[in-house]
This record gives sequence, structure tokens and C-alpha cells, in this order.
Amino acid sequence: MLILFHLSLMMIAALCLLAGVGIAMFGRKKRTWLKMHKNLNTAGFGLLAAGGAMAFANVAVSGGDHLAGLHSWFGAAAAALAALTIFLGYYSLRAANKQAVRAVHRWSGRLALIAILGTIALGLSMIGIL
Ligand code: HEM
Ligand code: HEM
Repeated sequence: MLILFHLSLMMIAALCLLAGVGIAMFGRKKRTWLKMHKNLNTAGFGLLAAGGAMAFANVAVSGGDHLAGLHSWFGAAAAALAALTIFLGYYSLRAANKQAVRAVHRWSGRLALIAILGTIALGLSMIGIL
């Protein structure tokens, strides 16, 4: 049951993050792109954190080992990259060296999204869907 919450939250999180990053990549002509990018990605990160808690709880109640297997490690790395990215996103709004912070934000953001999609593929193959 908990794993279904994990799966659903992660799928919705990935859709929010895909939309948020897509707007930053292709929708910058829109005046509101940064607001949309910020809101979609903040929501996406919240869902990702909630989904992570569900994965942790599922492992805890089923008596398994935490961080056992490729999906778990990939997922934990993806979540850490997303946390770094969101921190840099907010920080870049008021940092003195905005350009440098944004350059790192762009790359950590791209890597986070790729890691999340990879984790989803590994997760779906674990439950026999892929
Ligand atoms: C369709 C998507 C996904 C499916 C089907 C899926 C499935 C699973 C399954 C079956 C487990 C093992 C749970 C257990 O042993 O009780 C797990 C654990 C885990 N998943 Fe996912 N997952 C998905 C997406 C994600 C994503 C996107 C992330 C992170 C970005 C993620 C992060 C984790 C982590 C960190 C664990 C390990 C928790 C722990 O060891 O305490 N998963 N997932
Ligand atoms: C996990 C959440 C986030 C991810 C994955 C993410 C990802 C990205 C990516 C990939 C880009 C570059 C797009 C391109 O290729 O041109 C970008 C740009 C940007 N993001 Fe985010 N972002 C996130 C959250 C945020 C937040 C919360 C803010 C602001 C509070 C923010 C502010 C910015 C800004 C200002 C840029 C433009 C940087 C530049 O081109 O110099 N981001 N983001």
C-alpha cells in the first residue's frame, strides 16, 4: 500500500518537475516563466520529499534493509541533487554572485531530472512494469 503512495507521489512529482524545467528551457518568452518555474518545482520537490518518506516507511514496516539496491541509491542521489538545486534556485535570487550560482543550478537541475527519470525506470522495472 505504502509503495503505491510512493509510486504515485513520485510520478506526479516528476510531471511537475518536467513541466517546471520545460518552462525554463523553452518558455522563457513568457513574462511569468520564473514564477511558474519556481512554483512548479517547489511543488514537485515537496511531492518528491513526501514520496521519499513513503519509500522509507515501506522499507521500515516491511522489515527490509534501507538503501538496498540500485533504485534506492539512485533515488537517494536524485533527491539529494533536487534538494541542492532548489536551495541554489532560491539562493540565486539574492546571491551576490548570481551568475555562478545559476550556472551550478542549471547543471544540478538537469542532472537531478535525469536521475529522477532513471530512478523511475528502475522502479518500474522492479515491479515488473518495464
Ligand atoms: C514509478 C516510480 C517508482 C517505483 C515503481 C518505485 C518503487 C520502489 C520500490 C519497490 C522500492 C522498495 C521498497 C521496499 O523495499 O519496501 C523503492 C524504494 C525507494 N525508492 Fe522508489 N520507486 C519509484 C520512483 C522513485 C523515485 C522517482 C525516487 C527518488 C527520486 C525513488 C526513491 C526511492 C528510495 C530512496 C527508496 C529506498 C527507501 C529506503 O531504502 O528506505 N523512487 N521504490
Ligand atoms: C528542484 C527544483 C528545480 C529544478 C530541477 C530546476 C532546474 C532548472 C534548470 C534545468 C534550469 C536551466 C534551464 C535551461 O536549460 O536553460 C533552471 C533555470 C533557472 N532556475 Fe531552476 N530549478 C528548480 C527550482 C528553482 C527555484 C525554486 C528557483 C527560484 C526560486 C529557480 C530559479 C531558476 C532561475 C533564476 C533560472 C535561470 C538561470 C539562468 O539561466 O541563469 N529554480 N532551473
